[in-house]
Amino acid sequence: MSVAAAPRPPRATSARARDLGREIFGSPLPRSVIGGGGVFIVGFVDGMNKGAAVALGAATGVLLYAVLYVMVQMGRQARNTEDTHVLASLLGPHTPPLGTWAIEADFGGLIYQEMQSRPQVVVECGSGVTTLLIAACLRAQGSGRLYSLEHDAHFAVVTRERLEAAGLSEWVELIVAPLTEQCFDGRRGTWYDEIEASKVPGGIDLLIVDGPPDVRAWARWPALEVFHDRLNPGATLLLDDGRRRHERRVASRWAADHREYQLFWHDTVKGTWKLTKREGPRAEGAATAAARALVRTLNPMPSAFGRWPVSR
Ligand SMILES: C[S@@+](CC[C@H](N)C(=O)[O-])C[C@H]1O[C@@H](n2cnc3c(N)ncnc32)[C@H](O)[C@@H]1O
Repeated sequence: MSVAAAPRPPRATSARARDLGREIFGSPLPRSVIGGGGVFIVGFVDGMNKGAAVALGAATGVLLYAVLYVMVQMGRQARNTEDTHVLASLLGPHTPPLGTWAIEADFGGLIYQEMQSRPQVVVECGSGVTTLLIAACLRAQGSGRLYSLEHDAHFAVVTRERLEAAGLSEWVELIVAPLTEQCFDGRRGTWYDEIEASKVPGGIDLLIVDGPPDVRAWARWPALEVFHDRLNPGATLLLDDGRRRHERRVASRWAADHREYQLFWHDTVKGTWKLTKREGPRAEGAATAAARALVRTLNPMPSAFGRWPVSR
């Protein structure tokens, strides 16, 4: 299946209920708990002594989890390989190496999907493969501009040379913005220089957060604090490296502090958090909010969802 044909679920209430059902019956963890619990009940009702039924249920749960975990990993890698072909067909011989410092192909696949809604102002934190991919999509759609923040002057030269070689320079404004100590909402942190970041205009439709590369807590958190007012209603933010503890904390802090954003999880190789900006804050009762918080806590990064975003 190509990335372009990837399904996108409607976000109505019924779709959210369906998501929840999938989450309970689709992810390895809840499935294993249900499977193990079922075996325990059947064994117990069948006259097995309680200790033996618990042991059999637990063993079934663990085995089921191991099998489902491996299947999910394989599915994720298969999707990643499919997306490698999509990126390679877009960038041809100009495709830089993927993985490690650069994005995995499936994160590129998500960017490609977002580019199908023809965003006009795209911003990214951290240049590289993403810069080439977004520029290639802008060229294909014939309009729009990418503003790319890069803290490393040497790497900015590398990205410029790659853009030049691929004939994509005219679609990108590469902004060299060294990391400087700043204060955001009372919190001190190191982020792209504010004078350089102020060159990014308003009306942002898509924001890709894949830098700074710093692995310290909150390193990427300023992105939304800085650009929130410049994001259009309906805009999307994609955060890479979402399986890392700090990025998980950043994503849930964003969702808690900015109630007009809806948070989704994508089961990609490195993990992706997606936020979409609404017109106003989410209208949600206390019971729904508590249920959501419980589900998020029990199963923060559901897997086995293919390309579907899971509402968090
Ligand atoms: C996570 S990387 C950004 C990757 C970028 N979005 C991409 O798709 O390739 C964050 C930063 O790491 C730096 N970087 C990228 N590749 C690197 C490499 N191979 N070695 C050292 N630093 C690198 C760049 O300064 C980049 O802005």
